[in-house]
Amino acid sequence: MTERLAPDEGGIARAAALLRAGETVAFPTETVYGLGADATDARAVAAIFAAKGRPRFNPLIAHYARAEAAFADVVATPLAAALAEAFWPGPLTLVLPRREGSRVADLVSAGLSALAVRVPAHPLARALLAAAARPIAAPSANRSGHVSPTSAAHVLAELEGRIAAVIDGGACPVGVESTVLDLSGAAPRLLRPGGVSVEALAPLTGPLARAAGDAALLSPGLLKSHYAPTLPLRRDAVRIAGNEALLAFGAPLAGAALVFQLSAEGDLDEAAARLFAGLRFLDAEGSARGLAGIAAMPVPEVGLGLAINDRLARAAYREAPASWEGGKSG
Ligand code: TXA
Ligand code: MG
Repeated sequence: MTERLAPDEGGIARAAALLRAGETVAFPTETVYGLGADATDARAVAAIFAAKGRPRFNPLIAHYARAEAAFADVVATPLAAALAEAFWPGPLTLVLPRREGSRVADLVSAGLSALAVRVPAHPLARALLAAAARPIAAPSANRSGHVSPTSAAHVLAELEGRIAAVIDGGACPVGVESTVLDLSGAAPRLLRPGGVSVEALAPLTGPLARAAGDAALLSPGLLKSHYAPTLPLRRDAVRIAGNEALLAFGAPLAGAALVFQLSAEGDLDEAAARLFAGLRFLDAEGSARGLAGIAAMPVPEVGLGLAINDRLARAAYREAPASWEGGKSG
């Protein structure tokens, strides 16, 4: 049902034709796989939400082959232009005021006056965007609330039969989603830590205010209970129980029933690239073995460690049980 496309000229041409026909196609980026649709076609964009099972219309990132094309749809500030020059193509998303007369469907920005734009670096993404010759709206290609996919197999495990095609480009090199920076207000704000570290941005942005509290409203994809595995996850583990699976970073704690090593050398870039595959593996294998939960070792809060810790915090977050809501039942 879902076409598997090879990472070659033929595959790109087929994917671009499907996108131009209003279909949804998953494709690799340097961060995670995206689920793309023609951003100028509201019906095609709506099909993304249906395929993901998103409960409501969260705003999506519009992807472009070139910065000039992105800045035709949003109003670039001098800082936006400088950031684009320094970090595009790459894992940075800029939220900027929509330009009057932009062809991007209102549904892409969920009716907000600001639109998120990004120029990805992955050669297959760039080739696809060039061939499609239009902005492509693309959230991560997972079912709503699940861990982002970093391989075509991850995409198919959740979206087989729900999307037209996937380009199999192997594993995503960065492994965590793009950094989302809101430049639509008076001062730049970090909406989501990601593939470009705040240390790398600082020379241009200065110290970044991390959006807090109201962030879920400003950037609905930032809801706390994102990336939820089935097994409960606890963070900053310094001891491990015999019925727990271990997400290791550096020398592993002894005594775990199951171990996934993010990076034996404690390399944060390697750990980011392996994070989502590790969570998927421990969740599936740990559940199959009847383990009680996943314990994640501490990860330092520098470089890509911010993005890793952000995703782990979301994976660890549990909604209060429904029975807590004023004694409602059923
Ligand atoms: O690396 C990535 O960014 C991947 C690849 C496919 O490009 N895409 C991705 O998309 O992670 P998604 O939809 O899973 O996350 C987009 C994030 C969400 O947190 C969303 O709320 C925020 O960007 N966002 C999108 N448009 C926005 C807007 N207009 N204002 C504020 N936040 C926005
Ligand atoms: Mg996502």
